This record gives sequence, structure tokens and C-alpha cells, in this order.
Amino acid sequence: AFDLYAPKQRNGTAAPASRNGPKVTVLFGTQTGTAERFANQLSEEINEKYPHATATASDIETYDHASKLAEEELAFFCVATYGDGEPTDSALSFTEWMEDLVKQGDQDGSSPLAALKYGVFALGNTQYEHFCACGKLVDRQLKALGAKQVIDRGEGDDDANIEDDFQAWKEKLWVELDALAEFAPQQNGKAANGHANGIPVTTIKPAKVAEEYKVADAQEASRIWSFDVTAVGPNSPVEAPISERKELHTAKSERSCIHVEIDISATDLTYETGDHVGVYASNPPELVSEALKRLDYNGKRVVRLTSSPGSKLSKAMFEGKAMSVRDILSNFLDLQSPPRKESLTAMASCASDPKEKARLEHLASKEGRDEYRSHVLDGMRSLLELLHEFPSVKPSLGVFAARIAPKLQPRFYSISSSPLCHPKTIHVTCALVEGKSPTGRHHKGVASTWFSRCKSQSLESLAGDKIAVFVRRSNFKMPKDAARPIVMVGPGTGIAPFRGFLQERQARMAMVKGGETGETVLFFGCRRKSEDMIYESELASWLDAGVLTTLDCAFSREQEEKVYVQHKIQERSEEISKLLVEKKGSLYICGDKTMGKDVVRILEEVLTTECVKEMEEQGRLRRDVW
Ligand code: 2AM
Repeated sequence: AFDLYAPKQRNGTAAPASRNGPKVTVLFGTQTGTAERFANQLSEEINEKYPHATATASDIETYDHASKLAEEELAFFCVATYGDGEPTDSALSFTEWMEDLVKQGDQDGSSPLAALKYGVFALGNTQYEHFCACGKLVDRQLKALGAKQVIDRGEGDDDANIEDDFQAWKEKLWVELDALAEFAPQQNGKAANGHANGIPVTTIKPAKVAEEYKVADAQEASRIWSFDVTAVGPNSPVEAPISERKELHTAKSERSCIHVEIDISATDLTYETGDHVGVYASNPPELVSEALKRLDYNGKRVVRLTSSPGSKLSKAMFEGKAMSVRDILSNFLDLQSPPRKESLTAMASCASDPKEKARLEHLASKEGRDEYRSHVLDGMRSLLELLHEFPSVKPSLGVFAARIAPKLQPRFYSISSSPLCHPKTIHVTCALVEGKSPTGRHHKGVASTWFSRCKSQSLESLAGDKIAVFVRRSNFKMPKDAARPIVMVGPGTGIAPFRGFLQERQARMAMVKGGETGETVLFFGCRRKSEDMIYESELASWLDAGVLTTLDCAFSREQEEKVYVQHKIQERSEEISKLLVEKKGSLYICGDKTMGKDVVRILEEVLTTECVKEMEEQGRLRRDVW
């Protein structure tokens, strides 16, 4: 494996004299892009603060750990934890390889990583029982293999403020690195490690951001998503057409929830009940037009973006491909999220009006923290809104794509079908995300808006309008023993994976006639039966067929007082306790995370805290919350 995006050195020439210090490798295991972003930030900041050091960020998946890791001087790991505590797909082969080394070491006493210094920043979510489990695992393995920790493990909580957690960890890291001899300022007459007159400087703002992408005109645009079967895997999507779509809410509802079927028959994709599908949808066309106009780009121009030598850019899917500027903005750049501080700093460096520049720098600074929070985050101001607010910011396409606009991230949906019934299609149950932001901007969720547009298109035209998808494995799985009871809690679109579970139970019941199937209980919730009780007729037929033993619905707005799924669970506490405690059944919760927390709280009342903990430890309580 080779790292396409490592800073390139010309053949035969030594590293520049100014970079003859320590080499630092920052590895990331990412799922939604946060760990990757943090790793890139970390390596950039190390390069800025320590001008003689060379830091490079690499994806842990493509990094050749077997031949490189033992040779490293210093490595940092930014690793995310996925779901119920497993490593992300991309980190799996790394952690398995490490575990083998640890076992080997236990037998022969070897410490193959004794020369390595390291630090771990673990990303996780306290919503889940196994908080930061992957980071903890990597930390333990590195220690067991003899590597020396240069800083205590950092832990970022995505349920609170992961950005602040990372910032705080980095501040500690600078202190530790400053204390290492190899990071001490070199004797070249200037303070090299971020200390000015003995006062530590925590952030160094580059006066002008580098042109990290070179833009070259090309002749003919290539396909946006190329089919490379060998590359199909985590986050490498394939194109698939939509074969069915329909509205699930009734005409009485003022909201929308769309059922979509993605035809995967022409792809190599496979899935299991309970997995997630990652979707790369494109930005709404009117938003892209608005951005093109504001930035003064010609959307029809076909270009090829390639990162400049020395660029710290990470793998970007559009790199090197010939594409129209409109396609780049539509498919790869996030135009709607509130910009992070790095984007504001980059905008500042492209502002020709000094007042705008100063204001942007202030918003991105430590002192401007509160204003950033209220203006950008609380106002939910999109990148495009900020570009309008600062009209003198005129970035080149290279700077805009590399520095200002973040990469458009895939959206994940819990698959709402079972491959036993639908091996050739993946079903998605998608609530339309739409509404007015505090500033009056009409916000449209990228993927749900894309799905929603399918409703007005004919199936023929949809066959040509494909979407880029990939499958993410999950451990939100039914018990292997079908005789065990399952209790499913899924209000709203939280019902999605349970539709898959029910399809699977039905298919299995048909296959093994006479086999025992455990009780199957579903708690569903919505506003009103007449508006948003999605999949109502399917649920009725599963009840009739005995696939579903009990269906209990909480209609929250049909009476004065709110009635939620957890109230229904409370009403059935005896029955639930029998299924979960006596019969060792499994409980599954899917949906919004506040609901998830509330349900677990009630469960602790109904079953006792110890009991819930035990279920959690035995893998009999699983969550798929967002
Ligand atoms: P509400 O919108 O009337 O408050 C699906 O979204 C259903 O979940 C709706 O009926 C919604 O009710 C309900 N819901 C909202 N918050 C919830 C919570 N914390 N716990 C359980 N259900 C909730």
C-alpha cells in the first residue's frame, strides 16, 4: 500500500534542510470523517509549530502497518469507535494485527514497538456503553507492545463537545512535545516551536492559505463515481439506481417520510439485516447555482484538481478526476453546514476588505469563541450564508475546495429491509429534514431532499439518476437463537431496522416450519395514527401472521398529555421484565438519542440498574441512535 497523499518529495533529493527533525505519523480510523479531520488538523499544526518536524496523516486502513509501524519514531492515533464498541471498519485489520502481536509477545516476551513513542486521541459517544472502546483498545495494545506513551489518552465525546475535547488534548500535547529534546527549537536564530519570547503561542494563523489544489482545465468530464470492484469497501461507494419510492405519511400530515428502494443487483454490494447504508447524495441544484454565482465560478468548466506537492490534503474523492465545477460543488463539498473555525481562517486569508478579514479572524480566534457560538452555531449559519455576509472573500476554486468548504459527508440510514426477503434491494425509510433556520434560511437536508425529489420523477428517469451508496456493517443484530424473545423500541423512523427484523423473522419462520420463535414485541410511536403511522398495513399483517406477538403504539399528540413509547413500556413492566430477565430476551432501541436515553432510564426503573447493566454487558441491549 502506498500513501497517495503524503507530502511528495522529489526523487533523489533529501528532505528540505528545515525539515530534518522528527518524523511524525498521524493515523486515523474514521467513520463519519471527524477522526480524519482531527488527524489532518493535528499533523498540520505539528508542521506549523515545529518547522523542523515532518508530520503526515494517513488512513489506518491503507497504512502499511506491518512494515512501517515498528520503524516509526512517533505516531499519533485518532480513532473513532463505532456503535457498540467495535473499531471502525477501516481500523479492524489494524487492531486484529496488533492483537496477534500482543499474543505473540505474551508467549515470547517480545516488545516489537519498543522504539515507538505514541499518543492516542479516542473518539466516542457517551450515549454508548463502550465509550471510546476502540481508542482504549489501541492504547492498551500499543502499551503491551512496548511503545511509550508521550501523552495521556484523550477522549472526545460526540454527545457533548468533541471539538473542545480535542482542542484541550492538543494544548496538553504541545506541552509534552515541547519537553521532548527532538522537538526543542533548533539553533537557527528563531523561535521554532511556537514560543514567542518565552510565551507559548497556541495558535499560529497562516497569513495566506496555500493553494493546495492545482486547477487545470480538462476536456471531457469523467464519471463521478468510478466502479472499482477491488476498492468497494468502507466509504467507497458504488452507483445504484432507485427502483421504488413512495410517501409514507398520509395527506393529513404536514411532514414527509419517504420509503426508497435502492437496486443493488448490478453491484457487488451485500448487506445483513440491521446494517446501515451510507449515501452520498448531491446538494440541491438551486443551492449549487447560488454558490457558483456568489463565487463567480463557471459551473460548466471542466477541470482537474490535483493537490500541490507538499500539500497536507487527505484523500479526496474528486482528486485527479476531470469534472465540471458544478459537479465538484454538487457532489463533494458541504455548502450548508455552519463553517468550522478552520474555514473561517481560510476565508479571512482570502478577504480583500481588511474589516471583513479582521472580523473573520476574530470569529475564528479564542477570544471570539462566544461570538462564534452565537453567530455561527446558534444562528445555524451555513457556509453560503457566511460567504454572502463577507462579499470580499473571493477564493480560487483550489482554495475553496481544499480549505474553505468541508468534504460533503455521507449520510447513514438504518436499512429497513432484510436480504432474506429483498436480496437485490436496500430499503431506506427517510424523514425529510427541512425547516427554517434561526436566520430564516430555508434549510434542506442533503440526502433526504435528494430522496424526496425522487417522488416526482418517473421510475424510468430514476434508472438513469443513480445514487452513490455503500454498506456499513453493524452489530445491531437479532439473537442467533430465534427462540429468544426480542423487544424492539422504535418510534418514528426508528422503526426502520425492525421492519428488517420482522421480514427476517417471517422468512425464517417460513423456512424452518415448526421451529420455536421467541416473543416479538414492538413499541412504535408517532404523532397521530391518521398521519404518520408508517408501514401500518405491513405491521397489521405481521400481527395477523403471528410474526409480531405484540404491537404497542404511543400516539403522542392524540390527547392533551404526551404519550411516548417509554410510557407504554412502563404499563407493560411485568411482561417486559419476564421477557428480558426470566427469558433472557434482547432489547433493541432505535431512533432519536433523547428518546434512547429516556427509554433506558425507564428501563432501569422497570428492571433495576444492575439488570440493565448486565443486559448491556451480555449484548442483550443494543442501540442504534442518532
Ligand atoms: P412528539 O413529536 O409529539 O413529541 C416519533 O418522532 C415520535 O417520538 C413522536 O410521536 C414524538 O412525539 C415522539 N418523541 C419525541 N420525543 C420523545 C422522547 N424523548 N421519548 C420518546 N418519544 C419521543
